Amino acid sequence: MKPIKWAFGGALACLLGVGAFAGISYRSALPPIPPPAADGFPAELVAKGATLAAIGDCVVCHTADQGAAYAGGRALPTPFGTLYASNITPDAATGIGSWSLDAFKRAMRDGVGRDGSHLYPALPYDHYRRVHDGDLEAIYAFLMTRQPVSAPAKPNDMIFPLGFRPLLAGWKLMFLHQPEFQPVPGRDAQWNRGAYLVEGLGHCGGCHSPRNLAGAEEDGSSAYSGGVAEGWTAPALTAASRAPVPWTADSLYAYLRAGLDGRHGVAAGPMGPVVHGLSRAPEADVRAIAVYIASLSAPPGGAGQPADRPPAIDRADRAAQADPAGAALFAGACAGCHEAGAPMLTQGRPPLATATALQLDEPANALRAILNGIHPPAGAAGPAMPPFTASLTDAQAARIAAYLRTRFSDRPAWTDLEQAAAEIREEDTRQ
Ligand code: HEC
Ligand code: HEC
Ligand code: HEC
Repeated sequence: MKPIKWAFGGALACLLGVGAFAGISYRSALPPIPPPAADGFPAELVAKGATLAAIGDCVVCHTADQGAAYAGGRALPTPFGTLYASNITPDAATGIGSWSLDAFKRAMRDGVGRDGSHLYPALPYDHYRRVHDGDLEAIYAFLMTRQPVSAPAKPNDMIFPLGFRPLLAGWKLMFLHQPEFQPVPGRDAQWNRGAYLVEGLGHCGGCHSPRNLAGAEEDGSSAYSGGVAEGWTAPALTAASRAPVPWTADSLYAYLRAGLDGRHGVAAGPMGPVVHGLSRAPEADVRAIAVYIASLSAPPGGAGQPADRPPAIDRADRAAQADPAGAALFAGACAGCHEAGAPMLTQGRPPLATATALQLDEPANALRAILNGIHPPAGAAGPAMPPFTASLTDAQAARIAAYLRTRFSDRPAWTDLEQAAAEIREEDTRQ
């Protein structure tokens, strides 16, 4: 066990202990119901639930690789151990078929299972509790009309003592206070719709906000200032954004809808499934999300680019002189797609100079793109890049990443690149 995990776990355990001793952990079981008939739900309600579930990414966590949709089993690594998402198909024995609407709402808002046990906040109920009743009812109708799948839950593997669910009551006492969403006066309906979706079902802060030692999101001025997700960096969406070309509501709409905007990089890694969900959401909702996110980075008092953000740069000559070996590797493996004049670029794909990944403090996103490639997020038509795990050594991948940093960024050089590449490769072979 890595010491860092114990440090995290220790801090969390102390907080959790508070709750356990306060004796507030007990929640009663709610009575089981006979699984509701699928044709008992109005079709419009089910259709509304389908789009809301897409915005909420339910299928992303609740579906294992190659597994049946919503039948659970996907492993979710956390700093505190591995959790497995549950089966949320309407199977009575192994899914949520015997859950009443009230039991479902309690899980989504308070993180309590039908049997009264506390659920881990990997199910982002700190966000879902902001969602209005009618929308939760629609999602319930949608889930209850899916095909029931018999798939027993996989046991979680949490570090001691965090496998003991009553401790979660302490975490909730400290961190679960988000009220149901209320529109902000003085903002228009579109902005408020965006805020509602981002802070509620979209749970964008789940990845894009930093977390404290107990794994709870920081809010206030730190919200959306950047976080981590499955080994990737989820970049800041505020004025702290490192995007070389500032995001606008229009470019955000293109990125969130299709996974690619002509003046920014691509939605790779854990952002891919988010875009996949949004590609199935109503256009007006994705526009509203874009408007709200754009407002997060608008500097107070007017438009304009924050002063400390350099414009997109490309210093090919300087980089070739400083790093001939990196330049040669790039010319061989990458230039055919990424150098000026390449067919991909003449078709309107963004140049690497605009990729946020090359401006971040951490090299993770750039290295993961190089080693794992990029898979189309929104259906087969999206942008794709081949993985280079087989054709580049760790040292070569590190060399190329260092070259990209020198060529496309004025920020400090990345360090320990070869080791980072080795770790990403090792992680992939373990999965
Ligand atoms: C980031 C991953 C993630 C997302 C997104 C997510 N869930 Fe979950 N969900 C989980 C995990 C993990 C659990 C199991 C938690 C535990 O074991 O304590 C869970 C548990 C549940 C449960 C309790 C099931 C049971 O048998 O106890 C319900 C209901 C549920 N999720 C519904 C949803 C719905 C509806 C959505 C979409 C709006 C959703 N989840 C999105 C990770 C996720
Ligand atoms: C599961 C984690 C996760 C969730 C949830 C998530 N994101 Fe992301 N997001 C990421 C990661 C990781 C990246 C970096 C992708 C890359 O480098 O290609 C990213 C990138 C982005 C970017 C591009 C930033 C830049 O400067 O390049 C935007 C904009 C964005 N996300 C918006 C959103 C919005 C809006 C939501 C909610 C609807 C959301 N994200 C939810 C993980 C997430
Ligand atoms: C077959 C074409 C192809 C090749 C070869 C290729 N790429 Fe890509 N690359 C893409 C596409 C498509 C994208 C996504 C669209 C975009 O961002 O331009 C992309 C995106 C990227 C990104 C941005 C990732 C992000 O999160 O924004 C980086 C960094 C990158 N490539 C680096 C490389 C490097 C380094 C090489 C050589 C080792 C390489 N690529 C080779 C097609 C290619």
